[in-house]
Amino acid sequence: MIEHKEHFHGSDLEKIEQIYGIRKEEITSFSANINPFGISPLLKETLCKHMDAITTYPDREYSALREAIAAYTGAAKEHILVGNGSTELISLFIQITAPKKALLFAPTYSEYEREISLCGGTTYYYQLQEENDFKLDLTDFIQNLDSELDLLVICNPNNPTSSALTNTQMREILAACKKNHTYVLVDETYVEFTEDISLYSSIPLAKEYDNLIVLRGTSKFFAAPGLRLGYAVTGNGSLLEEIHTKKNPWTINSLAAVAGEIMFGDNAYIEKTKSFISSERKRMYDAFNANPAFYVYPAHANFLLVKLLKDELNADLLFDAAIKEKLMIRNCATFPSLNNKFIRFCIMSSDKNDELLSCLFHAAESCTK
Ligand SMILES: Cc1ncc(COP(=O)(O)O)c(C=O)c1O
Repeated sequence: MIEHKEHFHGSDLEKIEQIYGIRKEEITSFSANINPFGISPLLKETLCKHMDAITTYPDREYSALREAIAAYTGAAKEHILVGNGSTELISLFIQITAPKKALLFAPTYSEYEREISLCGGTTYYYQLQEENDFKLDLTDFIQNLDSELDLLVICNPNNPTSSALTNTQMREILAACKKNHTYVLVDETYVEFTEDISLYSSIPLAKEYDNLIVLRGTSKFFAAPGLRLGYAVTGNGSLLEEIHTKKNPWTINSLAAVAGEIMFGDNAYIEKTKSFISSERKRMYDAFNANPAFYVYPAHANFLLVKLLKDELNADLLFDAAIKEKLMIRNCATFPSLNNKFIRFCIMSSDKNDELLSCLFHAAESCTK
């Protein structure tokens, strides 16, 4: 087993190639959280017919794209802003609002803190309790909210815990934060994978709360991380205006804009993805739940967080066992407040999920003999 000084982001297949000598094309990434169906078939069939789109500059307003997003999300077109992946929008929003004091849940996705510190702000953490399955204790959270806070960032469903807040809970948070003039940035990168998006998405709240900005992307659900297409929804007109004036024009290329218009309308693919993820998530959850070597947390996104319960078992060991089978999971030791007793993996095809299951169960069994 190699020394695990290195940890891999879900997309670091090149590093794996160097270290383990496995060709990246042969690796199934259970750590990138990407829809196993690949891109929308409608997109695949039709995008090449739109090649000529690159001969002109994109529409500065991205009007047709924003219309497609409005139809897909139910948001008002004038509340939608598009960006080069949700990453560009996270960074633009944080640069523009320049929060001095920001609050994140722990554990969560690391990019927010990086961006906040680049802009000179300080990040505080509210710990999600393991004993409570990393679900937020809403009453305690609201009672202890700091009135000096400039920004609260909520990843919903949360990466890596797969826990989620309903929009009823979000409404309480938004109301409390509005009193304190605190912005709430909700990253909904994984929300389309939830069992019932109408219970979890905060987009409908954008009309009511001008301290809310919701972010989404196409990297995970639409399996298009290379396209770099994301969008934000906010009902705050002056914030929209400010982002729009400070943002570079044309950060989404013409083909990505057309791709968005096509894929947001591929209802068959969207429904197929939702129902597959939902049934496979339940199947994987039930299997891990029945094995005493593991504790699996209730999952709302397309990935599961699992705790390793046996003393002899750790994430380095399981990562190694899986990568030797060309299956790449996420060692969660680098997430603040987690350690190498936690792994995360996403839902891939049924066959690959079975392979991972048998590999991890076998490794757990053989190390405790
Ligand atoms: C929670 C979360 N937000 C944002 C991103 C980045 O998304 P995008 O590719 O849309 O920039 C990721 C990628 O892993 C993520 O997990």
